[in-house]
Amino acid sequence: MAFTIAIDGPAAAGKGTISKAVSDHFGYGHLDTGLLYRVVGARMLDGAEPVAAAEALEVVDLERDDLRTAEVAQAASKVAVIAGVRAALVDFQRAFARRSGGAVMDGRDIGTVICPEAEVKLFVTASAEVRATRRFLELTGKGSIITLEEVLADVRARDERDMNRAEAPLRPAEDAVTIDTSSLSIEEAIGQAVAVVEARQKG
Ligand code: DC
Repeated sequence: MAFTIAIDGPAAAGKGTISKAVSDHFGYGHLDTGLLYRVVGARMLDGAEPVAAAEALEVVDLERDDLRTAEVAQAASKVAVIAGVRAALVDFQRAFARRSGGAVMDGRDIGTVICPEAEVKLFVTASAEVRATRRFLELTGKGSIITLEEVLADVRARDERDMNRAEAPLRPAEDAVTIDTSSLSIEEAIGQAVAVVEARQKG
């Protein structure tokens, strides 16, 4: 059965890793919707007007190679509060959800706004300290010179903005299953997510 699986949660909770593994496991397509906001954020840093940048978004833009920086992440979180930006990105996301063969979409508002009809909704979370430590290890592993305190402040600033905005704030859908990855290994977290989908498939 081809399901739409919505995976929402805060930055660095493990959504990306879990989404990729779940899409591989079931042979579904995967869309990291944060990349859409990152493209618009990157365009804004280049001087573009955010709503116009969102309206002009094309699939090839998702391959820009500077989307993973902390600067672009903050810019993404800033453009994501703009109603016109969010509205311009809805059709692209819903079209992906409707593709045949199943879709895993990860973001902040997939279960609540983009695909409220998704067959499976997961809310993947972890404490701010655990998320900051993971992101710190990832960034320093790639050679970034940054302190854990700076990464934690960054994570908290993004949480604050993502959870408290008026438009499509980050929150679990009422029918979402929460997976707290704070004390889970990657394999355990993936195992829990796959088990939720399988239980739903069995009806
Ligand atoms: O998942 P990410 O870190 O790549 O997301 C970057 C920013 O984009 C995030 O801080 C909030 C925003 N975002 C959003 O508002 N809605 C989504 N569905 C995905 C991301």
